[in-house]
Amino acid sequence: MSAPTGPPAGARPTVRVLPDAAAVQRAAAEEFAARTAAAVRAHGVASVALSGGSTPRGLHALLADPSGPFRARVPWAQLEVFWGDERCVPPGAPDSNYRMVRETLLAGAPVPEGNVHRIRAEEGATAAALAYEEELRAHFCLREGAVPRFDLVLLGIGEDGHTASLFPGSAALRERRLLAIAARSPRPPLERVTLTLPVLNAASCVVFLASGTGKAEAVAAVLRRRDMSRPAALVRPEKGDLLWFLDAAAASGTPPGR
Ligand code: 6PG
Repeated sequence: MSAPTGPPAGARPTVRVLPDAAAVQRAAAEEFAARTAAAVRAHGVASVALSGGSTPRGLHALLADPSGPFRARVPWAQLEVFWGDERCVPPGAPDSNYRMVRETLLAGAPVPEGNVHRIRAEEGATAAALAYEEELRAHFCLREGAVPRFDLVLLGIGEDGHTASLFPGSAALRERRLLAIAARSPRPPLERVTLTLPVLNAASCVVFLASGTGKAEAVAAVLRRRDMSRPAALVRPEKGDLLWFLDAAAASGTPPGR
């Protein structure tokens, strides 16, 4: 498997710069509601891969808010919830991505339990990645060698340009056959499970969310300099949409627009 070399093919990013983090969350909620509803109209189900970290918390709260404008628009009963990555910690641990999604989204939204596809990362990264791969293949009814096409993948970006648990210089960036693999983070929790680039780049739509000046350098490296050493720069859906929702602080190093 060759290492990522030049700019990947695939969708050019559409960048939306919004005034603040709350506006980013509203724009993302609108996209989430619209894309999931369209997916259910098109093929009866909406398969999403959610991001970890802290950025999605506000988006999740907006989507699940019973008095808000989005909850009634999301087809919760037909929503199939996956994760882009998980830390190898118990599902109830403070830094579990599952726990974050459970608390901020699923606790307030009527997603059937059978539609929640947790990465069982506490079982160890390699075993969990294998199990997750099997779950993906079963859910998407994949023949050998096929890649699932998520209707929507939500991603964040770290200050080093990582996304999901794909970190700079990681061997995981070169994986082209497996759908999910064990990965190692430079910061605790060290052991992770992550979707691979082929899965992210097969998505119908990828939405990156970034807020705050802490992300400005990484965002500029990806969107302005096309710095391929930043894993987020390698996410370019081949036949899908790529959207970046930034607040002014995160975009402070990046010209608005495409
Ligand atoms: C994780 C995420 C990771 C995250 C970025 C940004 O498991 O931590 O998948 O890729 O999206 O690190 O994190 P924040 O949203 O907390 O800034």
